[in-house]
Amino acid sequence: MTEKIVYPVDNINLASRTGISAKTPFSETMCESIDTHQYKSLLDIGCGSGIIGIYSLLNQMPFVYFNDIQPNCIQLTKYNLQQQSIPKNKYEFIEGSFESIDLSKYSIDLITFNPPQLSTDWVSMNIFKEDSEKIFRNGGKTGKKVINNFFQWFSKQPTNKITIQLGISSLLKIDSFLETTEKEFNLSGIKKYMKKVPLRKFLYPMVKKMSEREQNEREIAIIDNVFYKNIHILQFKNKSQAKLNE
Ligand SMILES: C[S@@+](CC[C@H](N)C(=O)[O-])C[C@H]1O[C@@H](n2cnc3c(N)ncnc32)[C@H](O)[C@@H]1O
Repeated sequence: MTEKIVYPVDNINLASRTGISAKTPFSETMCESIDTHQYKSLLDIGCGSGIIGIYSLLNQMPFVYFNDIQPNCIQLTKYNLQQQSIPKNKYEFIEGSFESIDLSKYSIDLITFNPPQLSTDWVSMNIFKEDSEKIFRNGGKTGKKVINNFFQWFSKQPTNKITIQLGISSLLKIDSFLETTEKEFNLSGIKKYMKKVPLRKFLYPMVKKMSEREQNEREIAIIDNVFYKNIHILQFKNKSQAKLNE
């Protein structure tokens, strides 16, 4: 999608750890959507294997801050950066929850986050053996717990020039998600990029119970008995900043 991509995400092979994937359909879609040459400094929240930040660095992003709440994700990202021979002056780590980051201390113009967003109303986290995978996926009762915490945190930061890109599943009802986020947090949001992907089998029982209307609202498609959802990359800016860029 972006110009000047030297390293397509398909060609980047990173290591994984138990419960932490090297790449997922979400991270691949996110990478494809980033205009890496337009920004100077990225904060990759919930970096996991480091795929989004590493892809960005390999494609001309000058600097990346990697953040994750799980120490094993930080270790894995460090390992993957070394394996990709990325110079050490191109990145830094901010360990711990994003909620403890004070953005005024850093010069950042893009934040990316593929948040955990699996609703525990739909699937019990006990289907995942590893605690690390539970933290990777757990979006609380509605799937929006970490996402809401993210916007609460961001709205308290003394900055209005940062662009946010989030990977959000159509299962969370994208149109109403955009509407409420814009209203509650004074942000302007757009659908930047989208990809149709097969639904994981463990979600089939939940989707099969839905009415046709509800399936439509959640952009569920059935092709040859296979269920699909959409991954949306939503982009948010402060409302005044978005007007300036119009
Ligand atoms: C769905 S995974 C995405 C990982 C990677 N960015 C990717 O796209 O493959 C979500 C990541 O967010 C991290 N995470 C969860 N809660 C967090 C928090 N409060 N602060 C920072 N990271 C968090 C998890 O450890 C996990 O690595």
